[in-house]
Amino acid sequence: MKGVWLLLCSASLTSAFYLTKTDELHFKSWIAQYNKAYNFKEYYKRLQIFTENKRRIEKHNEGNHSFTMALNQFSDMTFNEFRKSFLLSEPQNCSATKGNHFSSNGPYPDSIDWRKKGNYITPVKNQGACGSCWTFSTTGCLEAVTAIATGKLVPLSEQQLVDCAQDFNNHGCNGGLPSQAFEYIMYNKGLMTEEDYPYTSVEGICSYKPTLAAAFVKEVRNITAYDEMGMVDAVATHNPVSFAFEVTNDFMHYHEGVYTSTKCHNTTDKVNHAVLAVGYGQENGTPYWIVKNSWGPTWGINGYFLIERGKNMCGLAACSSFPVV
Ligand SMILES: *[C@@H]1O[C@H](CO)[C@@H](O)[C@H](O)[C@H]1NC(C)=O
Ligand SMILES: *[C@@H]1O[C@H](CO)[C@@H](O)[C@H](O)[C@H]1NC(C)=O
Ligand SMILES: *[C@@H]1O[C@H](CO)[C@@H](O)[C@H](O)[C@H]1NC(C)=O
Ligand SMILES: *[C@@H]1O[C@H](CO)[C@@H](O)[C@H](O)[C@H]1NC(C)=O
Repeated sequence: MKGVWLLLCSASLTSAFYLTKTDELHFKSWIAQYNKAYNFKEYYKRLQIFTENKRRIEKHNEGNHSFTMALNQFSDMTFNEFRKSFLLSEPQNCSATKGNHFSSNGPYPDSIDWRKKGNYITPVKNQGACGSCWTFSTTGCLEAVTAIATGKLVPLSEQQLVDCAQDFNNHGCNGGLPSQAFEYIMYNKGLMTEEDYPYTSVEGICSYKPTLAAAFVKEVRNITAYDEMGMVDAVATHNPVSFAFEVTNDFMHYHEGVYTSTKCHNTTDKVNHAVLAVGYGQENGTPYWIVKNSWGPTWGINGYFLIERGKNMCGLAACSSFPVV
């Protein structure tokens, strides 16, 4: 087979690497699919990274795993690059405070999916290259809680949280936590709509207009750290729940199935991504959460993923919360 050896000198790539014509054809069709454009130098660097990712995905999919991986819009990035652009740049320390959500002791249904219970969940959004996942987790949760209360589903503004919620220990594109964003909305007395305060994926000057406040928070409920049954209780008896967990590099190319990992931690100080639990269920005896992500509808299962439930997988029960409206 015809090919070309490339000696890799970039810090993240350490070994010599054989590229085939097929690798390059795959890369070219991926470029076309995702509308990418590179200059000459960048092209070869991205081709190498893409091919390494592709091989890792193929190897994973040949193994016996509960989830599969696939190429997606992130496939020309190393995990390090991905982490800098898309995850909370500083892992959040959601200290294990005692929560104020009191469980009802069930019994709980075997499965629940708020997407099917009514018009409560907005379409999957895309945070772009900004560590603002926490704002999407927050709006997704408040949109649902408000829709359950009022019967009206209105997309809410992430940008207001990016621009305005600093006083509650949030840092725009450098991270924050849904519980702290709910606190901001409660004390600020309102959050505007997506339409009135649209998302730009860069930090700007706060331009909140109180007269356009469209959603409100009366109280913030934090679920006690590591009380995963408390999360089940909240999702089963109240509404979807915001939570954070630790993303490691096998998650970047998640495709479908129940995600589990041995690489991530289960502590409170390593979480780097916030998302929204919209339901739960089980598959072949493995319980899972149904989770809305904010990496666009082409990532994962139409923008969603499943993650194992009941084991505090990747610290997912470390800091979960929801608002009362
Ligand atoms: C795959 O993994 C499952 C669960 O760990 C196990 O029950 C099954 O036997 C494995 N199959 C093969 C072919 O190794
Ligand atoms: C996280 O917070 C806990 C409790 O406040 C503290 O003991 C711990 O040292 C903190 N960890 C980091 C990495 O800041
Ligand atoms: C909930 O969590 C937020 C942020 O971590 C905190 O500021 C707030 O005091 C907590 N609320 C309660 C009632 O514990
Ligand atoms: C974290 O994982 C360790 C090792 O698997 C386990 O012993 C511990 O109970 C887990 N802690 C929590 C809070 O889930």
